[in-house]
Amino acid sequence: MSDSTDGTSMLEKDSQMNISSGHTGKMKRWGLIATGIVGGSLVALYAVATPFVAPALRKVCLPFVPATPAQIENVLKVLHRRTGTLVDIGSGDGRIVIAAAKQGFRAVGFELNPWLVWYSRYKAWREGVNHRTSFYISDLWKVSFSQYSNVVIFGVPQMMAQLEEKLQRDLQSSAKVVACRFPFPTWEPDNTAGEGIDTVWVYDARSFKMQQAGSEHGVTTKN
Ligand SMILES: C[S@@+](CC[C@H](N)C(=O)[O-])C[C@H]1O[C@@H](n2cnc3c(N)ncnc32)[C@H](O)[C@@H]1O
Repeated sequence: MSDSTDGTSMLEKDSQMNISSGHTGKMKRWGLIATGIVGGSLVALYAVATPFVAPALRKVCLPFVPATPAQIENVLKVLHRRTGTLVDIGSGDGRIVIAAAKQGFRAVGFELNPWLVWYSRYKAWREGVNHRTSFYISDLWKVSFSQYSNVVIFGVPQMMAQLEEKLQRDLQSSAKVVACRFPFPTWEPDNTAGEGIDTVWVYDARSFKMQQAGSEHGVTTKN
């Protein structure tokens, strides 16, 4: 028996409508969940990727390129008689700071990328040198390095002249500076170690301060 002209009972129609509205509700829920997952993933990707991309968008592009094991060995070799504090300028994942701390230095890293700083702190803790290391989320151009007696930089050629001026101002005469892969443009190195991309140059602050004072007074010094 049917109570409508197309032969479908009201009860059947009702249940069909309930099924289809239940189906639409489920679809809506899944749509919202999918939008949430895609949106959340994009936000997470943005949050992780931005600090890695940001250095490339600055006036001086200094991307994260980790030091090779040979490079780290060369840094430690040229500083092997040195003690005290060491700073790695743009410390990346903390590998130089951690290696230096294992050699007895009180080692510090300044790094713009917060993910790399958090990872460095975790790695220092895992390797048992967290008490000899510190990592700061900082812009290298906005901090003073005056308190450090050993300074390490793995930079890019475009920044070395400006960094030369900054370190000349900041550092005490007893400090040593180690440049990895790219040397400073006007300072005379004391010593070098390694070859090719693993080359490091070591500079004595007393020498480059004298060189600077000499050039300011029109005197050129030859070693
Ligand atoms: C070539 S990587 C060297 C990493 C590390 N020192 C090593 O040798 O393994 C340079 C690092 O400097 C960081 N950096 C770039 N611009 C910076 C800035 N203005 N202040 C601090 N760190 C910066 C980058 O995020 C990158 O991790």
